[in-house]
Amino acid sequence: MDHKSPPSSKRPASTASFGFQDVPQDARQGLVNDVFATVAGRYDLMNDLMSAGLHRLWKDELIAMLAPPAATRGFDLVDVAGGTGDITLRFLRVGGTGCRAVLCDISPLMLAVAGRRIAAAGSRERAPLCCVNAEALCFPSRTFDAYTIAFGMRNVTHIERALAEAFRVLKPGGRFAVSDVVVRGRVPDEVRRSMELWIGCVAGALEEESYADKLRCAGFTSIEIEPWRIYSVDDARAFLTEAQLDVERLAPDIEGRFASAAIRAQKLSAQ
Ligand SMILES: C[S@@+](CC[C@H](N)C(=O)[O-])C[C@H]1O[C@@H](n2cnc3c(N)ncnc32)[C@H](O)[C@@H]1O
Repeated sequence: MDHKSPPSSKRPASTASFGFQDVPQDARQGLVNDVFATVAGRYDLMNDLMSAGLHRLWKDELIAMLAPPAATRGFDLVDVAGGTGDITLRFLRVGGTGCRAVLCDISPLMLAVAGRRIAAAGSRERAPLCCVNAEALCFPSRTFDAYTIAFGMRNVTHIERALAEAFRVLKPGGRFAVSDVVVRGRVPDEVRRSMELWIGCVAGALEEESYADKLRCAGFTSIEIEPWRIYSVDDARAFLTEAQLDVERLAPDIEGRFASAAIRAQKLSAQ
């Protein structure tokens, strides 16, 4: 069953949720790729408009959480689903000369935008690009000090595979650090999908507990999910009304159920 399915969902095992529809699981990644191929050139602007600029704060928070060393000490980040490079660029700006990032994304068009931005920042040598699926990374085990996948895990079809890869490529003691939208508890499908559209999720936000469980299953410890901003009904009222939903009736299913959050975990030193 897809990771986002509520317990009562009747969705057959071979389909996955994508926006307003259930699609064959095998087709989902292609649909995600089509979306990002279409928006790559205006992705950064869309991100600003949809989050009213807040995504910038959450990305800054993510880098602060990562605390890359400011001196020459070596520190290797793999920025998975790195898109147009926001996380990688911030990481290199804050970190010292020993900080390097490999920016991975499945979309060549998103990577092309990232490549131009990284070159403009004069950071090409410290941030190679890699076109790869998060589910099958092309790096040796125990390579990186940190793994990020900001606003990206929800786009991956087989989350467990991506998390197993994250665990594999991290060095012992390495850190998993993510900024993303999470769902808190059970939310009816009609609400969930409208809220996701409002928040700007292409392929659905992960449920908080399920994210933590999957991290645990992948072998991670010290798992923490810390909400940075919890959305209220009033935040989304205008959008939901326009979508012709009865906001008052649905209010108990919306209030406090969606949050922008920091997701942290660690690979134990002995692993
Ligand atoms: C919402 S964007 C986030 C980009 C960036 N991390 C940020 O915070 O601005 C999601 C990115 O995930 C990429 N993506 C989707 N599925 C992927 C997969 N299976 N493996 C790697 N990247 C993927 C998309 O191409 C897109 O660039």
